[in-house]
Amino acid sequence: MAEEEAAAGRHHVLLLPGPMQGNVNSMMKLAQLLALHHFHITFLTTDFIHRRLHRFADIHSLSQTYPNLEFKSISDGLPDHHPRSNNNAFADLYSFFNSHGKPLLTEILLSKTAAKPKVTCLIGDGFLGGLTADVADEVGIPVIHFRAISVSSFWALFCAPNLFESNELPIRGEEDMDRIITALPGMENIIRCRDLPSFYRGTESNQVDPLKSTVFDCHQTLRARGVILNTFEDLDGPLLSQMRLKFLRVFAVGPLHAHLNSRRVSDAKTTPSTASFWEADRSCLTWLDSQPLQSVLYVSFGSITTVTRERLMEFWYGLVNSKKRFLWVIRPDMVAGEDNGDRVPAELEEGTKERGFIVGWAPQEEVLTHKAIGGFLTHSGWNSTLESLVAGVPMICWPCFADQQINSRFVSEVWKIGLDMKDLCDRHVVEKMVNDVMVHRREEFLKSAQAMATLAHKSVSPGGSSYSSLQDLVEYIKSVGR
Ligand code: UDX
Repeated sequence: MAEEEAAAGRHHVLLLPGPMQGNVNSMMKLAQLLALHHFHITFLTTDFIHRRLHRFADIHSLSQTYPNLEFKSISDGLPDHHPRSNNNAFADLYSFFNSHGKPLLTEILLSKTAAKPKVTCLIGDGFLGGLTADVADEVGIPVIHFRAISVSSFWALFCAPNLFESNELPIRGEEDMDRIITALPGMENIIRCRDLPSFYRGTESNQVDPLKSTVFDCHQTLRARGVILNTFEDLDGPLLSQMRLKFLRVFAVGPLHAHLNSRRVSDAKTTPSTASFWEADRSCLTWLDSQPLQSVLYVSFGSITTVTRERLMEFWYGLVNSKKRFLWVIRPDMVAGEDNGDRVPAELEEGTKERGFIVGWAPQEEVLTHKAIGGFLTHSGWNSTLESLVAGVPMICWPCFADQQINSRFVSEVWKIGLDMKDLCDRHVVEKMVNDVMVHRREEFLKSAQAMATLAHKSVSPGGSSYSSLQDLVEYIKSVGR
């Protein structure tokens, strides 16, 4: 054991997540899993995120739990008052990193201290695929890309050139939305135009959209020594097989939060692994404690999505009229143009008070595993989808952008663990779907959700596919750092 530790201690892995909550959450879990394998780990974020992690994620105690895990930060080039949590902000961050990130990253990769060797392997977020591949080439170290989005969306984006070439794209307006896409290997005849990642919506290939460049960055991952995915074989087997035809190495090590939890139990590390950018309101757990078994619908649209007040009201009416209990995350910045979006409309006050509980940010992983939770109305971000799936909680999906449209299709049509509200925002639909998931079709969805949860847990246990894949990743990191 001591020999193994000493051998791993010669290797230094730097992880660079894209500056978004979902990406930081999942890469932080990967960082801890690798730290458990005794590598030196540097987790590099922007100054802004670093400050938030200090306040809300207690990275001080994480550093104590993992003495070999160090947190560093670099500037994101934006002024302090810049609203970093919307789509325009991501475009700004993306272009800043690509134009100014290189020297900052290079300097950190080349630095060395008495206690720590130089970085021997870079794990870079595929969101910054071109930058990380360029810097790794220049510095002469191997890079592995981490993809925080679902495999289905990554693969659908990776196949973009073929889809345009075979005339399956672009989408020709609203009336074309239900056309089936046939040329996506591994998911033939499952995906309609409306289920494609949002970057394809109404887009001509020459449309000016800074975020659209992330589509093409998928091909940068061909330059990496491998790709790490937050999924497991029983969930995405056919797509992983397709990916293995294109990429040198595919490490499917997810669901990362379940993987870390299972390793931490066996390694008796107890520090919470949350990487929240906001303070979680834990009073909702006390409220949940007093609710009947599987009676509450959890509602959250993730860290970035914004809604108009009109849409918020459709959900609010739908939830109250469903007569079911609900716990709803309404972030202070969630309602477009308002800073108190959670103010209760007078006509819904009674129903909300009777059966609802509203918070600005929840401890989501803990909420989803609470025995009072019976369903999840989600925007289908990949982390939320995996967290629900691992907890065996059926979903109602209301996808907004990025990978969410395709994730919700897989939830309803492939894995059959919930319903897809796709492109509808109507109080009657909300009410009906809540009752379907919580009452009428409860048994059916619960059964398939719990079966999938069992497979997820199996995959991260000794002998499971993700467990073995992480072992392969560890061995690979050791082999390239010699
Ligand atoms: C973004 C994209 O929107 C998403 O489509 C992509 O898959 C990942 O990057 P985000 O919208 O934030 O992420 O959604 P998601 O991936 O679900 O991540 C949100 C994270 O925040 C989850 O890990 C969730 O547990 C956490 N969260 C959310 C909380 O801890 N508390 C909350 O109240 C809400």
